[in-house]
This record gives sequence, C-alpha cells and structure tokens, in this order.
Amino acid sequence: MQYLTNKRVLLGVTGSIAAYKAAELIRRLRDVGAEVRVVVTDGAKAFVTPLTFQALSGSPVHENLLDKEAEAAMGHIELARWADVILIAPASANSLAGLAQGRADELLNAVCLASDVPLAIAPAMNKHMWADPATQENVRLLAQRGALFIGPDSGEQACGDVGEGRMADSDDIISRLTELFTVGSLSGLTVLITAGPTREALDPVRYLSNHSSGKMGYALAEAAVEAGANVILISGPVSLETPDRVTRINVESAADMEVAVKEQITATDIFVATAAVADYRPVTAQQDKIKKKEDRLTLELEKNTDILAMVKADYAKIFCVGFAAETQDLESYARAKLKQKNIEMIAANLVGSVAAKTAGTFNSDTNELNVYWQGGDLKLELGSKTKLARQLIALIAQRYSLYEANDYNNSNVISLKNN
Ligand SMILES: Cc1cc2nc3c(=O)[nH]c(=O)nc-3n(C[C@H](O)[C@H](O)[C@H](O)COP(=O)(O)O)c2cc1C
Repeated sequence: MQYLTNKRVLLGVTGSIAAYKAAELIRRLRDVGAEVRVVVTDGAKAFVTPLTFQALSGSPVHENLLDKEAEAAMGHIELARWADVILIAPASANSLAGLAQGRADELLNAVCLASDVPLAIAPAMNKHMWADPATQENVRLLAQRGALFIGPDSGEQACGDVGEGRMADSDDIISRLTELFTVGSLSGLTVLITAGPTREALDPVRYLSNHSSGKMGYALAEAAVEAGANVILISGPVSLETPDRVTRINVESAADMEVAVKEQITATDIFVATAAVADYRPVTAQQDKIKKKEDRLTLELEKNTDILAMVKADYAKIFCVGFAAETQDLESYARAKLKQKNIEMIAANLVGSVAAKTAGTFNSDTNELNVYWQGGDLKLELGSKTKLARQLIALIAQRYSLYEANDYNNSNVISLKNN
C-alpha cells in the first residue's frame, strides 16, 4: 500500500554509526510512495557519502548552509517549505542538543527552525549517551515542543554494549510517520481527470471551441491529490497553473484527448471526465485560411468519439464519473447520460441564463452540482469550486469503496460537511 503517496519527507541524516541504515530507510519511504530529499550533517558525511543518498533518493543531497550556489538552487527556507514532514534518522546526541537549543549553525538545524511541519526523530546512540541526563533533558524539551520520537530500540549496539539506543526499524519509522497524516481516502489510487475545452481546427487560424475554463477539473485534481491519489490531468487549452503534484498532459483537439486518455487509461482506477469535449469536428480542417467570399458558408461536421463511453465500454472495471452541463431538465438529461454511458456517477450543473443568475457557470469560481448515481443522488450546494471539488472527491471515494466491495447498490452517503 502506498501509505505516503504525495508526501514529501525531508530526511535529516546525522553523525551516528547508524547512518548506513538511512540508505535502506530512503528505499522503504519511496516504496510507500513518499518523495524524499536528504539533508546531511558534516557528521553524517564521515559515515556515509552523500552520493549514496543521492542515488537512492533520486535528488541532490543538501549539505551546506552558507554556500551561495546551494542556497540559490534550493535554500534552507525553500527546503523547509517543500517538506510535509521532517524526519531525522538517525538523530545523534549532538543533533538533539542542537535542536533543543534552537541552533541554526548547520543546514539541518536551520531548516528545522524555519519549518512549521511535524518533526519526527529517530535517535541512535550508545546506551550511556542516550541515558545521560543532558540527552534525556533535550528529548523531554523537544517532545514537549511537539516532536515525535520514534525509538530508540533496545538490543545489541555497534560498540558491543547491550541496551537502549538502537535506531528503530524502518518499518516502525514508516508506520509512525504514516500516523502523522490522515491517510487520504484515495490513498494509492490513480485518478485520471480530463479538463478544459477542446479546439477543433477549421483552418490554420480558426477553431470551434466552447467556454469551459477548466477550473472545476483543476480543482478536482487538487482535491484528489489532497486525498492521496496519483493524479494525471489531461487538459485542453486553459490559462490555469498546474496544481502541485499533478502530472499534466496538454492536448488541443478531442482526437488528441482521446489518444492521451487511451495512453493513460490502463493504470487508472478512477476516471473523471470534466472536459467539455467538442461533440463534433469539421470533416476537413482546411490547409489554408478560409477566405471571405460567399454570404453563407456551410461547415460539414462529424462526430467525435464519446471518450467517457469508450473508456467504460473498453475498461468496465474503471470507476467512471461524468459531468453534464445542461440548460434545462437537469435530472432527466443527467440520468439518461448515466444510463446510456453505463457509468457510475454523474455530476450535473445548469449552465446558461438560468444558472448565470444563481450558480456560477463555465468561467466562474463558484458552482453548484447535482450528483446522480443509480439509486441515489446528492446536491452539493453553491460554493467555491475548491470546496465543491473536495466534497465531490469525498463522495467519489465513498462510492468507489462500495464499488470495490461489490456493494454499489448501497445508496447511503455519510456526511460530507467536514470537507
Ligand atoms: C565511530 C563513531 C561512531 C559514533 N556513533 C555515534 C552514534 O551512534 N550516535 C551519536 O549520537 N554519536 C555518535 N558518534 C559521535 C558523533 O559522530 C559526533 O557527536 C558528531 O559530532 C555528530 O555530528 P552531527 O550531530 O552534527 O551529525 C560517533 C562517533 C564515532 C567516531
């Protein structure tokens, strides 16, 4: 299980004989989905070379505080902002003393001071160093300030002593780290989202398109990341920033979108089709610009593939969510689409003049949604697209777990109001 999908772990390695165990820990953290960056102290470098950590983490190792090139590349403040959690493993007696005093003379200490994310510490040292009142006082202070101590374990030590001071096992460290985060409702799942409009070329300078802004799809991508999913966003042309930790694939036409979806679909658990894909495209896109001649110009159009229906027909197991923008008879049109495409869920909203007076529409930052599935429905009241996206993702997660448990006819919905 990918318990730490999308989580960024800043691993601090200090000068303990157990520094070699950090190498295995990095591998295990990455196995469970975490992104890992490593900061080493000078003491750590005496035990293991940064190259080992670089190769295992897949990122450059951060070593120096007062180095202008390192600071320009990713400085201590940026590192502090990057992390979702700081884990110091192994933590030497000296590093505990530095942290307890609030020192900022080493990169690792400075990052810890500059950060407001949880700090987890796995000490490793000789049993007498651990039992020393100075160390115990530092531990007490740090725990009081909110640090999570993991270990140390008891047993045989590198120096030959037997007692308390061994670094905790990688599995224990990971399981305690996981407890720091509420494991997301979509943890470890891959969610494929389409968003935005498509452009169907008429000639080299003109196209048929629609007013979709992509905002709903992008908000859903962000909410799915928050819920722990791997998110792939296939986007038509929009002027939106790619949400953090989302893989974005840009497309122009409906045909491009179809190709991109086919390329990504085999690894997908949940497919959410928010894109306003053009139903029709010009039969031929002219090579040269169409000249203004006749009073009337007739365009011949042909149907594009219905991407959502295609996905469900070819990959029956994928949980599919559609979107419907209607100008009238919301429920009947939405339910007809649900049935005709054989999908699990549809989120419908009114667009056009009626909607413009109440909810938001294509370009707005607000919306309201009516969500339908076989045997149930839920109205998500007018709110920001961010809030609605969180509610819809929570609903998708609930319905998906029933779907996976072959209990999809159960129409219960637990409260979504905390989202
Ligand atoms: C062979 C050797 C092993 C050591 N092992 C430890 C250890 O396991 N834990 C510890 O706290 N200090 C250990 N030390 C002492 C630290 O390396 C020393 O206090 C160092 O300054 C720690 O630096 P740092 O905390 O900045 O990384 C060891 C020293 C040597 C020479």
